[in-house]
Amino acid sequence: MEYDKKKIAVLTSGGDASGMNACIRAVVRYAMAQGYTVYGVRRGYVGLIEDDIFEMQYNSVSNCVHTGGTILRTGRSKDFCNPEVMKKAVDNLLKRGCNHLVVIGGDGSFRGLQDIHKMTDMRVIGIPATIDNDMGYTDFTIGFDTACNTVIDAILRLRDTITSHDRIMILEVMGRHCGDIAINSALAGGAEYVIVGEVPVDVDAIADSVKRGFDKGKTSTIIVLAEARNDLKDELIEKVGAATGRRVNHVSLSYMQRGGYPAMADRVLASRMAVRAVELIDEGQSGRVVGVNGNDIIDMSVGEALKVPKKFNQKIYDIATKISK
Ligand code: F6P
Repeated sequence: MEYDKKKIAVLTSGGDASGMNACIRAVVRYAMAQGYTVYGVRRGYVGLIEDDIFEMQYNSVSNCVHTGGTILRTGRSKDFCNPEVMKKAVDNLLKRGCNHLVVIGGDGSFRGLQDIHKMTDMRVIGIPATIDNDMGYTDFTIGFDTACNTVIDAILRLRDTITSHDRIMILEVMGRHCGDIAINSALAGGAEYVIVGEVPVDVDAIADSVKRGFDKGKTSTIIVLAEARNDLKDELIEKVGAATGRRVNHVSLSYMQRGGYPAMADRVLASRMAVRAVELIDEGQSGRVVGVNGNDIIDMSVGEALKVPKKFNQKIYDIATKISK
């Protein structure tokens, strides 16, 4: 089949992350400036399967750089793991003469991208977007900074009320298996304790330490609890409450962390990564994903990227735990 060299499609997939719209906007605007026709695929791989595809215009992305969520909407599709379904889905773009696709999403979305690259004519480039920051090959993913800022804001608000009541607050945050949101937000927000899946936890020791803090005159304590260890919630409430004789409250920020206007860091990162993704397509590359290393935008093959283990940032954890009690 003949494909038009100047056609490109874009989709967002998996959990939404603030900054996805800034990323879509930059893909659309930069690609159009290079003479591409751009298609938007709604609801990620679901929309690809269902042929929910439309031609985007310059103003399709007007007034979205500052908004959370994704104007293309998103989805998680189990069906897409079936190679037959995947090939048929990709045909919906190929029949439009379009054999370039930019996938904005997390590691699950990148696995789909890898299959497309291996099994079809589609040329694919990935951009990492997830609040979890759980992809080892890139220092940061789009949406992480905004999610941390939301947690920090919550820590400040919770501090006001618990200080007024001499209480303890357990603040549960998202991140799936990754403790990055927890440790960075705990450090930046001044929480006293942070519990993550990557480090063994001694709940009795935490309870004793919280008690000693109050004995020395503290008027409040915040424990940031990562999603990976939310199994400890009840034990913490019971043991910290018993050790201190104070009320222990629990708040889960949950999906609040995914929404809201994107921070500057996410808008800029999203725009830089989007431009590099379009450049890679223009260079005729496929099966690659962009990322950031230090202050440089990098790219590597999706296969390599998925193999890089996510390293736990022990230094940030140590700083957060050493200076906050
Ligand atoms: O990957 C982003 C994330 O928000 C995780 O932190 C969380 O575990 C998961 O998605 C929740 O997924 P869902 O939207 O399917 O409930």
